[in-house]
Amino acid sequence: MLGIDAAAGAASLVGAAQAEARSQPGKDPGLSLVEHLLTERLGCSRPAPGLIAVGVLYLVGDNLDAKNFLLDIEDVSDLSGLTQRLAVHAPEPRDAARAGAFVRFLLDAYGAATLQDFARALRPGAPVGQVCLDTTGKSLAMIELQWSETLSHEPPMRGVLPFMRWTAGLLRPYRFHSTMLVVGILIQTLYAAFMPLWLHQLFDDGITPHNAGVIWRTLAYLIGGFLVTASAGLAIDFSVSALGPRAMGDVRRQVFDKLLLLSSRTLNRFKSGDIVSIFSTDMFIVENAVVRSVAGIVGKVFLMLGSIVTAVDLDWRMALATVSLLAIAFWAPRQVARFAVKAAYDRKVEDGKFAGFIKETAQLLPVIRTLDIGEHRRGLFNEQADTIYKTSYRQYLMGELTSRATVFCISAAQLGIIGLGAALSLTGTVSGGVVVAYIGLLLAIGGSAGGIASLLPTAIQAVGSWQRIESLLARPADAPDAERAAEPDLPLSRVAFQDVSFSYTGERLNLDDITLETQVPRRVALVGPSGSGKSTVINLLSRNYDALKGTILLNNTDIRDVDNRTLRALMAVVNQDTTLFEGSIRYNIGIGRLGATDAEIEQAARDAEIHDFITTLPNGYDTEVGEGGKLLSGGQRQRIVIARALLHDPQILLLDEATSALDAEAEAAINETLAKISSKRMMFSVTHRLNSCPDMDMICVFREGRLVEQGTHEELLALHGVYAGMWEKQADISIDSSGQDVDISVERLRKIPLFASVPQEDLEGIRHMLRVEEVPADTVLTVEGTTTGRFYILARGMVESSVLLGDGTSLTMEILEVGDFFGEFALLEGVPNPTTCRTRLPCMLLSLSRQDLRHVADLHRTADEQSELEKEIVATLDRRLDAKLEELIGRRLASKQRGAAPRATADAAGPSV
Ligand SMILES: Nc1ncnc2c1ncn2[C@@H]1O[C@H](COP(=O)(O)OP(=O)(O)OP(=O)(O)O)[C@@H](O)[C@H]1O
Ligand SMILES: [Mg+2]
Repeated sequence: MLGIDAAAGAASLVGAAQAEARSQPGKDPGLSLVEHLLTERLGCSRPAPGLIAVGVLYLVGDNLDAKNFLLDIEDVSDLSGLTQRLAVHAPEPRDAARAGAFVRFLLDAYGAATLQDFARALRPGAPVGQVCLDTTGKSLAMIELQWSETLSHEPPMRGVLPFMRWTAGLLRPYRFHSTMLVVGILIQTLYAAFMPLWLHQLFDDGITPHNAGVIWRTLAYLIGGFLVTASAGLAIDFSVSALGPRAMGDVRRQVFDKLLLLSSRTLNRFKSGDIVSIFSTDMFIVENAVVRSVAGIVGKVFLMLGSIVTAVDLDWRMALATVSLLAIAFWAPRQVARFAVKAAYDRKVEDGKFAGFIKETAQLLPVIRTLDIGEHRRGLFNEQADTIYKTSYRQYLMGELTSRATVFCISAAQLGIIGLGAALSLTGTVSGGVVVAYIGLLLAIGGSAGGIASLLPTAIQAVGSWQRIESLLARPADAPDAERAAEPDLPLSRVAFQDVSFSYTGERLNLDDITLETQVPRRVALVGPSGSGKSTVINLLSRNYDALKGTILLNNTDIRDVDNRTLRALMAVVNQDTTLFEGSIRYNIGIGRLGATDAEIEQAARDAEIHDFITTLPNGYDTEVGEGGKLLSGGQRQRIVIARALLHDPQILLLDEATSALDAEAEAAINETLAKISSKRMMFSVTHRLNSCPDMDMICVFREGRLVEQGTHEELLALHGVYAGMWEKQADISIDSSGQDVDISVERLRKIPLFASVPQEDLEGIRHMLRVEEVPADTVLTVEGTTTGRFYILARGMVESSVLLGDGTSLTMEILEVGDFFGEFALLEGVPNPTTCRTRLPCMLLSLSRQDLRHVADLHRTADEQSELEKEIVATLDRRLDAKLEELIGRRLASKQRGAAPRATADAAGPSV
């Protein structure tokens, strides 16, 4: 790992380390050796950096997989402090683990060479932030973030005993039923403990000497005890039936509260199927175990303990043998139980994945049909089903083996004890009565052990489920509430970003040093290519994530100092995701401000241009929207979400492509409302359509996470920069106010390389031939490999072009926006489309067919006979086809090399396909 030639000079290193160990008796000789290696072989400073030395030593021990060592978020947040502590002190165990995890992370993420550079650069007194920057090119905050993203939140595997302790903790608040349960178990135990003694008495003092008085008295004890124990059994049944569901109700509440608080980062990684299966299957399994197994197992263990006390009373030698043999008999199956718990946990994890897969398939069924990837999904299903089979097999087998091992070991122990009793009675050391009582005792012990064994598989399965519940509870919560919650002075008059940088994963900056300042009322447009960071700005403003560096100010208050509730009351967000809650339209709008009157809800719906539609529905505002709102169209859902935001009446309105699913007419109407309401508040609006930009007070142009231009429409046009280019691309395409008609200028057509040198009159001809088409979202316009289709210019909406990979998944190549064009291969005879183009949003398109183009140019003539237009079209297409094919091959290769990542999105939208 450190590039050390093992043979060369190893002896001298070891010698030096030994000498140091002798001179510093408290010091770990292993650490001395690693330090010598670092200084002498890698040229690190002397003394060697403690962080790296301790980390390497930790890894060389038994902990090669240190990234899975259970560290908390706090453990990875103070690399400087850790480095300083390890530079001077002997490491605490937790610090050693942190150092190990850090070295492992550096090695995994950056490779051995960077680890070496890091170790060399980490000289005494060198700031670790500078070392990070010099060796990885990233700031300390980025490295800490990237490191924290590698953390595992899986709790270490635990067994049945900790599970029982956890259960006891759950039951404690329910005193009445818990007491009833304990008393019931104690009565059963006492009866079981006394019964052999009574049998002993009956045999030795009653039957053998024919003493009727003793016989009747003992029989009365036995029958009385039996009746009391039966009642105790009933009490146990009543109490576990009440306790199990109540205790699990508490756990459900606890997990649900956690779910509401999960951080956005955690949610990104958590599969929704997992969460659903934790609430459904896992909770059920744990509840079942609490009701059926836990009390049973505790009762049986008490019975055994009671029997052992009786055993001591009967004969201490046999009792000693019993305890020793039972200890062995229970120790052995525990070794198997460990594997059983792991298998149960794995099975639950697979269950979660499977539930997620089924949910996704059901949700995306229309997409699966359009892409015709049913077979491919069936293949994935079979793989998952196969994995479920394997994990279930292991789970059941291990569970049953644990129980079988318990029964086997206990029976063997029983035989041993009976043998011992028989031998002792031969020598006259114990009486016949004692042996008979012992056989009764062993029956009780055997019965208890058998009971435990039969309850174990359920308990083991529950431990697996409990671990999953715990792993959800261990996830980091959302940004915590500010400690010294400050109220920003209202009304808001200023929103400012000061040197804000942000990264989702620590791999690269998704926002890089953003500084912007706006006064309220102000309308700000955020524009830029796909993936440039516009939604990220909205995410930071709504505090879904916190900035890595820099501050966001509301008036003069840092957004992190504002109490979350206050902050969320100030803002409303409308984004592209318009999934609704199951319930009525009234409910879905009303949750914008709980307690709003019906009149207020209706007003909001009017402002969002949806009231008229709602009144045409038979149930009006009480119409059910279905799961996720699927009974409504995308545009209707979006208007309901806008109505909800308007009802909230926020100080800051955050719109992320809020009108993307609407037709042009509805969009224009809603924009008018938004313009009205934003006259007295702040509005940040992410948009791909620049036609609303001239009315905005400020336009921020993003590109690859940087704010490249800001200013008013006129200022930005005068810059002739990125915005001006985007504007130019879109401006010559106009949609009339009814949203029905689209026009494109001849100048715009000329900017399409295909038509660059076409004579003016031919271009006029082409312009008139363009057909206006309105297409809903998720429509496939060109299909990879086919020669049919049309040439399209995008006037509104967004189109995704993708290619199908060998494994049946599709790779997104480009996101096309307004002004982009695609499908030009359809204009040529026999050249297949290189990609499939599908609308992401409802689109308005201008299109041209091969047939139409023939009116202007006959593409079948020989080269000599071709007009300038035809020659240009053919030549351009040839060039573009070659370039495209090269790019395609490159991307396919890259995606194959990435192997596991089937989908990738192109960084920025290019002009065409
Ligand atoms: N949850 C996430 N985890 C990791 N990376 C993310 C996440 N969300 C976004 N990104 C990345 O951050 C970058 C900026 O994304 P963002 O969503 O802000 O882009 P955008 O400008 O809103 O694009 P679009 O116009 O397509 O909505 C992208 O490169 C994206 O891949
Ligand atoms: Mg976005």
